[in-house]
Amino acid sequence: MNKIAIVGAGSVGATIAYATMIRGVAKQLALYDINRAKVDAEVLDLNHGLQFVPMATLVGSDDISVCADADVVVITAGAKQKPGQTRMELAGSNVELCRSLIPQLLKVAPNALLLLVTNPVDVLTYVVQKLSDLPARRVFGSGTVLDSSRFRFLIARHLNVAVQNVHALIAGEHGDSEIPLWSSATVGVVPLTQWAAPGHSRLTEEDRTRIFDDVRTAAYQIIQGKGATNYAIGLATVQILEAVLYDEQRVLPVSSRLEGYQGISDVCMSVPSIVNRTGVETVLEMPLNDTEREGLKRSADTIRQAIRTLGF
Ligand code: LAC
Repeated sequence: MNKIAIVGAGSVGATIAYATMIRGVAKQLALYDINRAKVDAEVLDLNHGLQFVPMATLVGSDDISVCADADVVVITAGAKQKPGQTRMELAGSNVELCRSLIPQLLKVAPNALLLLVTNPVDVLTYVVQKLSDLPARRVFGSGTVLDSSRFRFLIARHLNVAVQNVHALIAGEHGDSEIPLWSSATVGVVPLTQWAAPGHSRLTEEDRTRIFDDVRTAAYQIIQGKGATNYAIGLATVQILEAVLYDEQRVLPVSSRLEGYQGISDVCMSVPSIVNRTGVETVLEMPLNDTEREGLKRSADTIRQAIRTLGF
């Protein structure tokens, strides 16, 4: 259990490689991209830093055999959002990429877990699980791990508390139909619904609306400014990889196939899940108020409609 392969040497794939190296998550790291010049340059630049990190080997190629026998393959390749473009608008081209990629990957890494990052990540997680015919637990997506991190950061900053002590989840689509789980959010053991720490801001309805809007529009804002997001998605992906490679049983809102989850089936989206070396070991039922339950169903319908439109 120590080889990670990353498909796609763009800003997200390269940042995941960089973060993986710094965290020392794997002893073998492989970067694959059809653009030979790009993947060679990224690998050269990363290897020049090996002395500073607990990494062992890092290789790259435009030949997919570089992914051979990987324990986890992280899929980041594909078209990325342009300013103002939604993630769902990428579905057609990125599904076609997966149609070609998945059979090749399964030949060289038949036992790998497949971790989707490419957007629309929920749709692609569903499609790749279908195309690969792998057990659902072995095909999952970064989902709303990143959105939840944004949510926690914004709540922590507003309340002036450590982000590590804010426990709050975004569930559903990694995209415009995602939902904030305010009813179960806490600061330490204090439910946000009871927050009234002296000297710390309150959380009004207006604050909640603004914070969630900032979460939902974060990627659009960053893409407008620098063309892509990469650092936080890189760190979020490495947290998922650590949960797998260290068999951590970590609870993360990754995207996976739901069947009979609070009345939701035949779709991939993010709910709290236990992640370990087998992939998504189980999904966890969670307390939802009526607004959250309706939002989760709406999000599932949004993703399922996109999946059906693509012919799956
Ligand atoms: C974002 C990309 C990863 O939300 O969808 O930054």
